[in-house]
Amino acid sequence: MQEEHGPAPTIWPLGFAVGIAVALVGLIVDPQWVASAGAIIAIVFGYLWARDATSEMRRQAPVVQAEVREMTPAEAAAIPPAAEGEAAMARPEPGERFPRSRFLEASTLGLGGLIGGVITVPVAGFALLPSFLDQKSYRVDMGPVSAFPLGKWFIATFMVDPKEGETSRRTAFVRNNGFVAQGSKQVPSFTVISNRCAHLGCPVQANGPTGAILGEKNEIEHTKNGEILLRPVLPAGFGCPCHGGQYDTEGNRTAGPPVRALDRYQFDIVNGHLVLLSTYSVSHVVGTGAQAKIYKYKLAGPGEHVDGPEQWFYPLNPPHHY
Ligand code: FES
Repeated sequence: MQEEHGPAPTIWPLGFAVGIAVALVGLIVDPQWVASAGAIIAIVFGYLWARDATSEMRRQAPVVQAEVREMTPAEAAAIPPAAEGEAAMARPEPGERFPRSRFLEASTLGLGGLIGGVITVPVAGFALLPSFLDQKSYRVDMGPVSAFPLGKWFIATFMVDPKEGETSRRTAFVRNNGFVAQGSKQVPSFTVISNRCAHLGCPVQANGPTGAILGEKNEIEHTKNGEILLRPVLPAGFGCPCHGGQYDTEGNRTAGPPVRALDRYQFDIVNGHLVLLSTYSVSHVVGTGAQAKIYKYKLAGPGEHVDGPEQWFYPLNPPHHY
């Protein structure tokens, strides 16, 4: 019976599978250490596995004797020398640089590529370009700074673009932190937190009494952006009704599935009015109010990590506003 020359069984695939399993579990329990350890195990065992599997290819070819057959002198005499007889393929004409077969090959590939490009480029352009272009930035006039008494929270509801109507209505939690020293100047500080959940984007609610329960009235400011509704609130934190995500009053995730802190609005003070600008994402916040240290990132979509190794899973992030 002929002996089989398959590779001997090894434990490398098993080690590789264990490494992948540890890395996946680590992404949930401890992305920094457990996931990294799993990735290292998978890489080491994967390398050993690949090295074993390709050892046959890297081995030097064995030297064997040329095959020989017996032939009678008459048979040997009947075989013409290699340089004589009819060529299997016509030789190119003198001066001919591209034989017909090469021309057909090149023209088939070129025509195929051209047709593919004509079909693909416009479709890909229409599908992808709008994500990168035509992203307007907004300025939302929220009313005079005096409408936001020091240290009080408001649930502010507004339209980022009244021309777009209700589809542009947004909610933010706003608190006036007073003035803070910046160099030799005193500059106003506001905390403006978006209510878009960092898990899947549901509207986050303030955990605490509002308006009449507090014995305070809702206010409406009339600005260039139409009516701005300001509802006083005393939040102990913020909570998401969809899957139970919880945040503290700085927007830090405290429980549930969200992957980062709540997004925030940049702001400016223009002619004594609070003006909201674009939004940005936040991994976490240390400290509170005017003294808070905010770890700020480019705006990311719901569910996207902005720091740690998981951020590598989101390499393309088209610019967008909401
Ligand atoms: S969308 Fe908020 S917890 Fe899921």
